[in-house]
Amino acid sequence: MKKFVLSAIALAALLACAPQQTAELTQEELVARGEYLVNNIGGCNDCHTPMTPQGPDTTQALRGATLGFAPTIPIPWAPVAPPIAGVPEHYTQAQFAAFLQTGVRPDGSRPLPPMPAFRLNEADARAMTAYIATLRPASAASE
Ligand code: HEC
Repeated sequence: MKKFVLSAIALAALLACAPQQTAELTQEELVARGEYLVNNIGGCNDCHTPMTPQGPDTTQALRGATLGFAPTIPIPWAPVAPPIAGVPEHYTQAQFAAFLQTGVRPDGSRPLPPMPAFRLNEADARAMTAYIATLRPASAASE
C-alpha cells in the first residue's frame, strides 16, 4: 500500500511538470509558431498586406494597405489597415502582445472595425509578435 501511494505521488509530480516543459520554446520555434498563427489563423494579411488578384502580395507582408472592401450599411469603419511589419514604432513588443490579448492600444484607444478585437492567450500573442517583429517595415525596405 505504501509503495502504491509513493508511486501515485511520483506520477502526480511528473504530470505537474509536463506542461511547463512543453511551454519553453526557443526564439526560432517561437517565430515559426508566430508565422503559422499570423499567416494561417489570424488572417492579418487579408487586410494589412496589399491585395492582388492572386491574394495578398507576400513581398509586402503586413506593410499596410487600403482595404478593397467596404460595409454595405453605415457602421464605424476604418478604410486603411496601417503598416505593422517590424512592430509599429509606437508599440514595444510587450505592448503589441498585450494589444493582441485585449484589443486595446497602449494609449487606451481601440481600433475601428473591421480590425477584430483579438483575445489571444499570452503564448500565442508572444509568438505572433515575435514573428511580426522579424518582418521588414516598408520604411526600411529597398524593394
Ligand atoms: C478584416 C481586416 C483586418 C484583419 C483581418 C486584421 N486587421 Fe488589424 N487593422 C485593420 C484596420 C482597418 C485597422 C485600422 C483601424 C483604425 O484605424 O481604427 C487595423 C489596426 C490594427 C492595429 C493597430 C495599429 C496601430 O497603429 O495602432 C494593429 C496592431 C493590428 N491591426 C494588428 C493586426 C494583426 C496582428 C492581425 C492578425 C492577427 C490583424 N490586425 C488583422 C484591419 C484588419
